[in-house]
Amino acid sequence: MNSCYIYKVIVSPMRTNCYILKSKATKSALVIDPGDDYSLIKAKLDSIQASCRVILLTHGHFDHILAADSLRNKLTQVAIHKDDEKCLYEKDVFSSMIENDPRPMYPADVIIYKEGKYKIDEFEFSVLHTPGHTKGSVCYIFEDCMFTGDTLFKNSIGTTIFGGDENDLNESLKRLYYYPGDFAVLPGHEDATTLSDARINNPFLRKFKGSTIER
Ligand SMILES: [Fe+2]
Repeated sequence: MNSCYIYKVIVSPMRTNCYILKSKATKSALVIDPGDDYSLIKAKLDSIQASCRVILLTHGHFDHILAADSLRNKLTQVAIHKDDEKCLYEKDVFSSMIENDPRPMYPADVIIYKEGKYKIDEFEFSVLHTPGHTKGSVCYIFEDCMFTGDTLFKNSIGTTIFGGDENDLNESLKRLYYYPGDFAVLPGHEDATTLSDARINNPFLRKFKGSTIER
């Protein structure tokens, strides 16, 4: 990526990948999925002398959102898809698994109603709505990097058992298989990959080889 440096902090007992994108031009940072462990994320921001201006959530599961309130200040804008937005302020079945559930948290500043190009603060990116793991799951694309949340992992995919839908996820994965070009894939858990590698080696994408796209 040309415009930002990318850092990864692993947070939460679920070992969620929280990504920090620091502008090469200013001290602004964008944080994707601050799932927990505010102090770890803050320490990283301090060490790179960055201030958090934007928080993007790939979906509303607790292990991707819980440190958002601690991290935000009056200049920070938080964005999430409309179909997962209520996860910020409604407790759910996961609350029993969390020691100190901070919800209700503050509502999002930017609700993503549709796909397309966005600019928040100085950060420009595209949003792909990829429902299936949750209704409001999205992928964020910055230049040649795709942040796939729990939709697509290196050699697997996210589960649908926590509020997801298998047919939706299948359609979303098919879209990713046919999405033009190649990207670094930075998932919500485990290691990074590339879309071209996933098309060949991830059985959940590979199966679309030779299928037709319905538009
Ligand atoms: Fe998830």
